Amino acid sequence: MKRHADYSLQSCHTFGMEVCAAHFVEYASVEELCEVLSAFRGEWAGMPWLHIGAGSNLLFTSDCYRGVVLHSAIRGMEVVGEDEECVSLRAGAGVVWDELVAHCVSQGWGGVENLSLIPGEVGASAVQNIGAYGVEVADLIEKVETIGVADGKERTFRPTECDYAYRWSIFKGELRGKYIVTHVTYRLQKHPVLHIDYGNVRKELERMGEQPSLESVRRAICNIRNEKLPDPKVLGNAGSFFVNPVVSRSVMERIREDWPEVPYYEAEDGRVKIPAGWLIEQCGWKGRSLGRAAVHDKQALVLVNLGGATGREVVELSRVVAGAVKEKFDIEIHPEVNFIS
Ligand code: EPU
Repeated sequence: MKRHADYSLQSCHTFGMEVCAAHFVEYASVEELCEVLSAFRGEWAGMPWLHIGAGSNLLFTSDCYRGVVLHSAIRGMEVVGEDEECVSLRAGAGVVWDELVAHCVSQGWGGVENLSLIPGEVGASAVQNIGAYGVEVADLIEKVETIGVADGKERTFRPTECDYAYRWSIFKGELRGKYIVTHVTYRLQKHPVLHIDYGNVRKELERMGEQPSLESVRRAICNIRNEKLPDPKVLGNAGSFFVNPVVSRSVMERIREDWPEVPYYEAEDGRVKIPAGWLIEQCGWKGRSLGRAAVHDKQALVLVNLGGATGREVVELSRVVAGAVKEKFDIEIHPEVNFIS
């Protein structure tokens, strides 16, 4: 187990601000996690804590987090079940998500290829219900193993118990902060069914001159993402800053009267999802900056640190951008990124 005091978090999050934590702990097993949790009943009683993954969905709004930052180094992947159709792959919460995708593709197992290059780790995939290009991880999850924060006891959740929806799970809702994910088991297909009809995946495959396969779809998705999304090592960012708003069909029809080209996707319960990036672009904010924070010039859903921006500058930009969308479209957009003070 690694334990540090006054620890720099700069390499632990992707927005790139210099932030420190009063305490930082990285555990590598369930036993070590239970040991850490027992400290919250002793020396760290009452201390705020924050569990991070790859830090790709965080915005620190001050320069010091006065609590304990936890990170999982539970790694490893193993096949725990297999039948004619599927393979069950169990992975540690600290496995880098894209390494899991690469592994599945190399083994010929389908399901996660459209989620290529999503930053983050396995634990967060189950909390966030990561999704891209028409695929959500909730549809692939078989079980989520956790440890209860209060009692240190193991509890396994089936997907039906996780309350999964677009970018949502019970771990973000009523059980927020109550359980820590240690392992996730995914059900992958031995005879993959490819999803290439979302966005411009098919177009990219055609441009590449390749037949659809697990490998070529993964490469196409990587190309599309690399084209639009900034590399955090070059330009600090946390991927999509806002969640796409899910609105009633009548709201979308109202917008379509003035903007016939409005893109939208079907969502749950007959509602529709309108891309926040499109709304922000129509407000004229794509590529514009406020202080040292900016709206990315290739994908308006992403806010970037131009260099030296503070968390507060990014928060201010997000408020101004959300305000512009509200004023023009009467639609509220909400951050997907977690603000940590
Ligand atoms: N659009 C614009 N202007 C923009 C950005 C987008 O007009 O600046 C339009 C596009 O032309 C397209 C539509 O909006 O018609 C959708 O754009 P895109 O395919 O880029 O997807 P998105 O809805 O903006 C979501 C996810 C992404 C994921 C993509 C692909 C959320 C919050 N974000 O973005 O996830 O990669 O779909 O499926 O749902 C992430 O979580 O960090 C992330 C990048």
